[in-house]
Amino acid sequence: MPPSGNNPPRTDLGVSFAGIQLKNPVIAASGTFGYGVEFEDVLHLDKLGGFVVKGLSKEPMIGNPPPRLYETPAGMLNAIGLQNIGARAFVDEKLPKLRELKDIVVFANVFGYTRQDYEQTIHVLNEGEGIAAYELNVSCPNTAHGGIQFGSDPRSLEEVVSLA
Ligand SMILES: Cc1cc2nc3c(=O)[nH]c(=O)nc-3n(C[C@H](O)[C@H](O)[C@H](O)COP(=O)(O)O)c2cc1C
Repeated sequence: MPPSGNNPPRTDLGVSFAGIQLKNPVIAASGTFGYGVEFEDVLHLDKLGGFVVKGLSKEPMIGNPPPRLYETPAGMLNAIGLQNIGARAFVDEKLPKLRELKDIVVFANVFGYTRQDYEQTIHVLNEGEGIAAYELNVSCPNTAHGGIQFGSDPRSLEEVVSLA
């Protein structure tokens, strides 16, 4: 049917990813969007298909000392050092606020230096309601195995992926 009046036709941008229905395929990357609630004044979160929260560890981390952002002619370098409030504070303080916002898909990004780190963090996050899926940051060094990155060794990767 042709569009009527001044209303352009609406295109359905919905996608289904791993069984999760997103209203559009735009997902804010981890670390670029805090825990979402801090951005309420800037943007209606429910316009996004979903967003990934800042990487979470079991215990809070203060990250690297400044300077940790540097502008270069080619763009920006950052070394934040995985600053985050920790899984427990996320579940207690941020997740309930996110749940009040309807129609938003939340992915929780998790990192660790050992398999147990991932396991314990996810264990805490599983107590919260409203996380659609976990995104695993596997570019951390596996300190229990000589510092190799989880993502660069299939066996290490399987170790953490099979946890979630
Ligand atoms: C300031 C900043 C903080 C970030 N923090 C995290 C993080 O905590 N966990 C993570 O997995 N990725 C983090 N990232 C990486 C982003 O999620 C994303 O992968 C990266 O910006 C590359 O995105 P692109 O491939 O779309 O350019 C961060 C990126 C930036 C710029």
